[in-house]
Amino acid sequence: MNNLKILVTGGAGFIGSHFVKLALKKSEVRQVINLDKLTYAGNPATLKPVEEDPKYQFIKGDIADASLIDTVFKNGIDMVVNFAAETHVDRSIQEAGDFIKTDIQGVWVLLEACRRYGIKKFIQISTDEVYGSIAEGSFTETAPLMPSNPYSASKAGGDRLAYSYWKTYQLPVVVTRCSNNYGPYQYPEKLIPLFVTNALENKKLPLYGDGLNRRDWIHVLDHCEAVWFLTEKGENGETYNIAGRNELTNLVLTRMILDEFNLDPSMIQPVKDRPGHDRRYAIDDSRLRKLGWTSQIPFEKGLKETLQWYKENTAWWEPIKHGEFKQYYQQQYGAIS
Ligand code: NAD
Ligand code: DAU
Repeated sequence: MNNLKILVTGGAGFIGSHFVKLALKKSEVRQVINLDKLTYAGNPATLKPVEEDPKYQFIKGDIADASLIDTVFKNGIDMVVNFAAETHVDRSIQEAGDFIKTDIQGVWVLLEACRRYGIKKFIQISTDEVYGSIAEGSFTETAPLMPSNPYSASKAGGDRLAYSYWKTYQLPVVVTRCSNNYGPYQYPEKLIPLFVTNALENKKLPLYGDGLNRRDWIHVLDHCEAVWFLTEKGENGETYNIAGRNELTNLVLTRMILDEFNLDPSMIQPVKDRPGHDRRYAIDDSRLRKLGWTSQIPFEKGLKETLQWYKENTAWWEPIKHGEFKQYYQQQYGAIS
């Protein structure tokens, strides 16, 4: 595809912002419109480096706002990459309403606009969490969905709604399901940035339960490259797992972070487990790899660089941690310091 006008939703968040930057570098891209509601997780500071790019346009708005979305589509959109979502499992356990509005209803509003105006590709960014937990082995894309927290259940709704628009209306939809991302500009509510910034502030690291839950980690840039690859190579109506092939227990990962900062394991504070905490996520991404995609960033290198980034960019995360986040932290973790 050439001379593309792309609508990226949720492009002021962690992964979406990296994707916006990647898309702007592509010669086949004429314009990138970033539509983002700027919830607590959206941060315009992340996009400062591209603000002046003539190919870039920002619109503050909600994907569930049908009349705004209609106006955006009226001006012609070739491709949609939908990153917009409420994304934090613990917040979904506290209150799920916004998850249902954005991760299900918002996806429907986007799909309806795509159907009315016609587009060349709709990429729905789903998650490996839709499969739920697996004790051994890994899920392929044909495994049944068994989401088990309000976040993943909402994402499963958006995931299957997107597929239904392919099956029912032949809308050119591709669904991606990626594992846990890490890298610069991640909101400090998620494990890695929370623990790294706590370590930098000499605060304890609140590890849930026995710390033996397992996750597969992928660098955000590898994830974005995989999504871009699928905009070109992904078959309509198909779903693709995207894995880092780097599975760790939370405890091992926490120790790696502490080692990097020469801190003692006594910095770990075991806390009450997350309700319904999925024990292990594992996906098989051979469908994607068979198309020719490979990840590029080894975990140890990516983690070191990410830690360094948080060390050097306190101006990005300190205002977050000492602003809105304080109240959430208190509610979620109590008096841990
Ligand atoms: P994030 O929380 O950092 O960013 C989400 C962005 O979406 C924010 O900028 C927010 O303002 C925006 N947003 C929220 N509701 C909106 C709405 N109604 N309308 C418009 N914008 C809205 O999230 P992230 O970690 O970058 O995740 C991006 C996508 O990738 C999500 O769909 C998530 O489910 C998926 N995903 C994330 C991971 C991960 O490890 N972070 C892994 C797999 C899939
Ligand atoms: O697997 C993909 C998913 O990864 C994405 O779809 C989600 O948007 C993203 O948030 C992430 O979900 P997780 O729940 O796996 O990520 P989180 O960073 O919240 O937690 C990772 C693991 O660390 C999990 O087992 C819970 C644990 N944890 C997390 C936090 C925030 C702790 O032990 N303590 C914590 O304070």
